[in-house]
Amino acid sequence: MCGIVGFIGERPATPIVMQGLQALEYRGYDSAGVSTVTDGRITTTRQVGQVADLSKILEDSSAMLAIGHTRWATHGAPSITNAHPHSSADGSIAIVHNGIIENHEQLRTKLQQAGYEFKSETDTEVIPHLIDYYFKQTKSIESAFHTALRDLRGAYAIAVVSSHEPDTLYAARLSSPLVIGVGDNEYILASDPTALIQHTKKVIYLNDFDVARITTGDLAVTNLESDSPTIPEVELLDLESEDAQKGHYEHFMIKEINEAPQTIQSAIRGRVLANEGIVKLGGLDNVVAQLRYIDRIVIVACGTSFYAGLVGEYLIEELAGIPVEVQQASEFKYRSEPFSRGTAILAVSQSGETADTIAALDKVKDYGVLRLGIVNAPGSTIARMTDAGVYCHAGPEQAVASTKAFIAQVTVLALIALHLSNGSTKDYKPLLKELVSLPDKAAAVLALSDQIKVIAEKYAPARDFLFIGRHYGYPCALEGALKLKEVSYIHAEGYAAGEMKHGPLAMIDENFPTFAIATDSPLLEKTMSNIQEIRARSGPVIALATEGNEAIAQLADDVIYLPPTLEQTQPLLISIATQLFAYHVAVARGFNVDRPRNLAKSVTVE
Ligand code: F6R
Repeated sequence: MCGIVGFIGERPATPIVMQGLQALEYRGYDSAGVSTVTDGRITTTRQVGQVADLSKILEDSSAMLAIGHTRWATHGAPSITNAHPHSSADGSIAIVHNGIIENHEQLRTKLQQAGYEFKSETDTEVIPHLIDYYFKQTKSIESAFHTALRDLRGAYAIAVVSSHEPDTLYAARLSSPLVIGVGDNEYILASDPTALIQHTKKVIYLNDFDVARITTGDLAVTNLESDSPTIPEVELLDLESEDAQKGHYEHFMIKEINEAPQTIQSAIRGRVLANEGIVKLGGLDNVVAQLRYIDRIVIVACGTSFYAGLVGEYLIEELAGIPVEVQQASEFKYRSEPFSRGTAILAVSQSGETADTIAALDKVKDYGVLRLGIVNAPGSTIARMTDAGVYCHAGPEQAVASTKAFIAQVTVLALIALHLSNGSTKDYKPLLKELVSLPDKAAAVLALSDQIKVIAEKYAPARDFLFIGRHYGYPCALEGALKLKEVSYIHAEGYAAGEMKHGPLAMIDENFPTFAIATDSPLLEKTMSNIQEIRARSGPVIALATEGNEAIAQLADDVIYLPPTLEQTQPLLISIATQLFAYHVAVARGFNVDRPRNLAKSVTVE
């Protein structure tokens, strides 16, 4: 979604801001803009389309203070007028904003009554006018910004420059991420650390209600809620700039799918002590005592992370015997359901910035329940707002479609299930052992990429697709369908195979292919029967089976064989295959695989 970059220092700001905006392109956007401050004057340039399109019209500037933005349209279509930065009428104040100002209508009316004219359809435009309104009374940008922030309801990360204070960059955050990179006599502001990693690893994460006043050599943070200055804590980023590069791959998506073996390895490294038969999760150490009394877990997440949560439900219930419910965060936050003190809320999120998942955690803030997280992005909002959690350690995920994060989340959920079971189940040791051999098996699935590509090209013209599976294969079917639809725009649905006769079978004909997850399990015969039923209605079938299942080759049109593994670890191998399938179909259809239309990475608004 929208991205913010700002720079203040002793070297030209524009190249740094533009490079930062490029690094944020993966989040998805439709327009971009920059404001520079030179000789006490603000120059703003905005463009619809790519950051590269903005570069073409940007004039050289010696400015050492600049802010930039990539916009993903929410209020108002993609256009130059709606693009950020937005300015006050006299151009003395320019701002960029991520998030949504919920009371923008009321503020707009109030400002219009005071004589302010609006040019855009955005919620954001109220902010520069509001700062200008208060500046006229106080003659201080800092105090005008603080007062304006108190008027805003909703979520925001904001950067402000003003010709009234041409040597200062202001920033503020509420429920939308903002990080400040600390360099030598310079600061880089960004909504995501990937935009500043090329320059520094020293960062300060702003907290909700924090307002920063940044000059070349100084940074001061005030918290609006407590109305007092805070001492910013400098942290070291655990991120390499190469992690965010495409390398020799054509797309980030295929690069990230290919990272599955090291993703599993990184998730278990130092956590699975196979010789001792122990799972060690340092991130849960401070809540060990509370975990003993957990009698229910509610997993909250969105999209792919929600499907990882569904796999987690099966794993935790099977291994630890604790009842688990998985809820879509966007629904959870509006439900009224009873909670006992023994409930733990477990948020699963790659970005750690998904607005709905944050809101779900916020909802239970005062319930006295344990709030846990499985997060990939270090230092993200969810990582910081939970009582304890386990990092995925998958490295930055750049393609909009989540792939390696799912792999990491499922691996971590398996570790949590093992940890909670405390060795009390017969499945404990075999699963522990199998996790160690999984990176090699993942590599074996990746080696099937060319075979999967041939199958994908054959089915690429399809209009619809059904994904079916049972037990652990069911969430994989849901995730497989999501992956296919988001990158290839083929209508795809995931179903529990047992549901076929309850409706979906009606859709099957020779033009409606099914991707059947039919890996070894006690339920395999039932899935084979479902495939028979589809074949009897002329439906083409691609089957994902375990090596050695020769019977399935008689039934399905195409078979992809996976290495044998435990049922509990099958989702990891199945998903690599469905990710490869979706990727190759999308490439065959000629789409922008890394940035599917209408989608954004890190959904920071409701
Ligand atoms: C699908 C996808 C999305 C995300 C969802 C949650 O490929 O990427 O469905 O999984 O937006 O995002 P996180 O995990 O960042 O909370």
